[in-house]
Amino acid sequence: MSTTGSLFGGGCGDKKMSPSASKSKSSSGSNVLQASRKTAMQGSDGKLYEYDRDSPIIFIGGVPRSGTTLMRAMLDAHDDVRCGEETRVVPRILQMRAKWMKSQKESVRLEEAGLTGEVLDSALSSFILEVVARHGEPSRRLCNKDPFTLKSGAYLKRLFPNSKFLFMVRDGRATVHSIITRKVTITGFDLKSYRQCLQKWNAAIKSMDEQCKELGDTHCLRVPYEQLVLHPREWMTKILSFLELEWTEDVLHHEQKVGKEHGISLSKVERSSDQVVKPVNLEALSKWVGHIPDDVVDEMAEVAPMLKHFGYDPHGNPPKYGQPDGEVVKNTNDVLENGSKWDHIGEEVKKHSKKDSGFRGRRSA
Ligand code: A3P
Repeated sequence: MSTTGSLFGGGCGDKKMSPSASKSKSSSGSNVLQASRKTAMQGSDGKLYEYDRDSPIIFIGGVPRSGTTLMRAMLDAHDDVRCGEETRVVPRILQMRAKWMKSQKESVRLEEAGLTGEVLDSALSSFILEVVARHGEPSRRLCNKDPFTLKSGAYLKRLFPNSKFLFMVRDGRATVHSIITRKVTITGFDLKSYRQCLQKWNAAIKSMDEQCKELGDTHCLRVPYEQLVLHPREWMTKILSFLELEWTEDVLHHEQKVGKEHGISLSKVERSSDQVVKPVNLEALSKWVGHIPDDVVDEMAEVAPMLKHFGYDPHGNPPKYGQPDGEVVKNTNDVLENGSKWDHIGEEVKKHSKKDSGFRGRRSA
């Protein structure tokens, strides 16, 4: 695979403005080209893929351990989509900007230095586009899964007006049980306390839900993890239609494309890789039951009010999530009966490093 990149669509050299380009005065009084930077990549099929701020990028977010990797793997199984591994730098740069904006002093300093909102938007969108496009293979639709990007959903939509967001929502008790038992370190979460983690989950999901509301129904879809795993066909139909993607059965069999050429690339260091190699199954649905301290269970509605907001019964241990589809029951039996086979596949995936795959995300010449 090889790739090229150019600034301003047709390239700066030909002095033509791209259709989306326009002129405006900068704070220093000079004319600046307001153009969408393009990133171009050539796929292994020889096709040229071009991306800019108008590209309909898909962003998958949610509190970590809410099925975000499963969601991205199911989409990665679609021939027209590439999500890939977490980039980690996209949410960090967004968080950094949010901090600058929050501080009155810093905002004034930036403005006085000529770093207007417009300059920052242009720089950040170029950075994000470059990272999202070039950390994996090119594809008709780019997708990014870094759970915390949703905290900046409204801002991301300002950078990429045609972007779409999938908000993974999971029963907070299951998410927190997963964070604690799998020792997933997340800033601000105290892994020794179910109560504190549930409160943190509540705050994080509330802020993401507000972003989703601001994005509106045409740009943000809430996907309940439990419903996705109980009824994958129904939910993937809904999701593909929301993303304006054609239906393909491939999304129901993501496990068949894991680790294959032009298939689904998993990270050897991400925590979910050995679970996501398996077909959609029900193993993780109610594992949390019986592990949360009694005093926290008793006060669940007050500790995590967002449970009720999303329709989870705070007093159900477990609540009634629903009856699974036949194909999911079959998958779950397979996972339970052939545990060592799936463990082995998980271990194999963890042995492979992207560094050795020859992929370097180069621009084309
Ligand atoms: P548990 O840790 O409770 O097992 P994320 O990717 O957002 O961190 O979410 C991780 C959760 O997604 C894990 O929960 C994991 O089991 C679940 N998951 C991953 N692959 C899955 C699959 N094939 N079927 C059902 N759930 C899956």
